[in-house]
Amino acid sequence: MRRLRSTLWAMMASCAFCGPVTAVTQEEMIRLGRDIYHDKSRGNCISCHNISDPVTNLPGNQGPMMIAMKQRYPDRRKLRAQVWDATAANPLSIMPPVGKHWILSEDEIDAVVEYIYQY
Ligand code: HEC
Repeated sequence: MRRLRSTLWAMMASCAFCGPVTAVTQEEMIRLGRDIYHDKSRGNCISCHNISDPVTNLPGNQGPMMIAMKQRYPDRRKLRAQVWDATAANPLSIMPPVGKHWILSEDEIDAVVEYIYQY
């Protein structure tokens, strides 16, 4: 019994810093955002938007180029809101409302915004 208890304690202690509470560095966020942006089964942003990242291959041009984001969105929350639900600004938008329709998680949206905000 004591052994079981100490094993459980050890497991809990080793997991104290894992899971969603893990602090993620900005670099990791950007890497995750980049993956989501280009992954056709996740964000799939690449199918409509070009971005001047060397890894980008065969982007679509249905949406505007991801460029000068900081200048055009000095308030990052406005950019996030656009990604979260493009239909708020344009009810006829063809851009999927990735937040409203739970296509991406809140953390994934943060990561994508972090990624495109560099351009
Ligand atoms: C099916 C095509 C499509 C997909 C997929 C798509 N978008 Fe869009 N996006 C658009 C279009 C079209 C617009 C232009 C505004 C509108 O019609 O809503 C737009 C607008 C935007 C804007 C505003 C751009 C500006 O110039 O102000 C941002 C930012 C954006 N999209 C980011 C994303 C991100 C990030 C993803 C992936 C999670 C994504 N989009 C996926 C089509 C798309």
